[in-house]
Amino acid sequence: RPRLQQNLIMRHQAARFVREFLTKEDFIEIETPMLTKSTPEGSRDFVVPSRLQPGKFYALPQSPQQYKQLFMVAGLERYFQIARALRDEDVRGDRQFEHTQIDMELSFVEREDVMELNERMIIAMIKTLFPEKKIQEIPFPRISYKEAMEKYKSDKPDIRTDKNDPNLLAFCWVIDFPFFEKTEEGAYTFTHNPFSRPMPEHEAWLAEGKEGTRIGEILTTQYDVVLNGFEIGGGSIRNHRPEALKKVFEIMGFEDERIVRNFGHMLAALGAGAPPHGGIAWGLDRFVTLLANEPNIREVIAFPKTGEGRD
Ligand code: AMO
Repeated sequence: RPRLQQNLIMRHQAARFVREFLTKEDFIEIETPMLTKSTPEGSRDFVVPSRLQPGKFYALPQSPQQYKQLFMVAGLERYFQIARALRDEDVRGDRQFEHTQIDMELSFVEREDVMELNERMIIAMIKTLFPEKKIQEIPFPRISYKEAMEKYKSDKPDIRTDKNDPNLLAFCWVIDFPFFEKTEEGAYTFTHNPFSRPMPEHEAWLAEGKEGTRIGEILTTQYDVVLNGFEIGGGSIRNHRPEALKKVFEIMGFEDERIVRNFGHMLAALGAGAPPHGGIAWGLDRFVTLLANEPNIREVIAFPKTGEGRD
């Protein structure tokens, strides 16, 4: 039907714009494997049995997070990829097993650099491809997690001044998230990304490790992009020093043996001398859904799954 055809065309144009924009900004697109080692990114993995190593499994990537950081270690300073990511979570209006990320990572940057580049890219894309849309506020307002929770009772606040205007795009950044939160069992876990770096003024609290007294107060460099009440992207500056990354896993209660087994490759790579780096990933499906005023990301995906996970 024309509506769905139009959605796929719009999706293509958005992806094409990003490719051209980032290429002009000296990024290179690099593909990363689909058969990988499991990454702790807070969701469940889809697994694929190995024929050559019976009883062993690959995990499908929840995101290219670790690979893109390895590119930074390898001196590929500006990476992007329009990448498929797979997560075994309940299918909902804004979630599918498979989603597409506009994924990027940059070396020698601070939070401000990543936010500036991405905000510029999004504004340019809307002005070029969707001139009928109105961006409510430029620069995008920045709201702390605390303020978002107090004022909007949500970490993805819908700040639209007119919710009936189908062409109104109200972007905001949500920043200053806590690094750790307590699980039901009372242990600490990361709120967003274990590879994130704390805010500079809180790095000393992380360095105290699991004996630290201010673990719950550590804020991360995480930045989320919210559009009309949906989280459409998120990223952070990373812990590029292996000692600091190791503290994150210690605080989460991981024994040395497990840290090495799960993350030895990352600690070794970072230990080889990693540049400071950071990045972000955008949910392309969610973004296009909002631009197309569709109620469900299924409408902008060719062959989506049903709520029961059927094809
Ligand atoms: P995150 O987990 O926040 O970050 O994912 C990035 C963006 O992808 C979208 N998204 C989804 N879209 C549809 N279905 C899903 N199941 C789904 N899960 C996520 C969201 C989200 O904001 N590696 C980090 C990024 C980084 O730190 O650079 C990551 O994957 O719009």
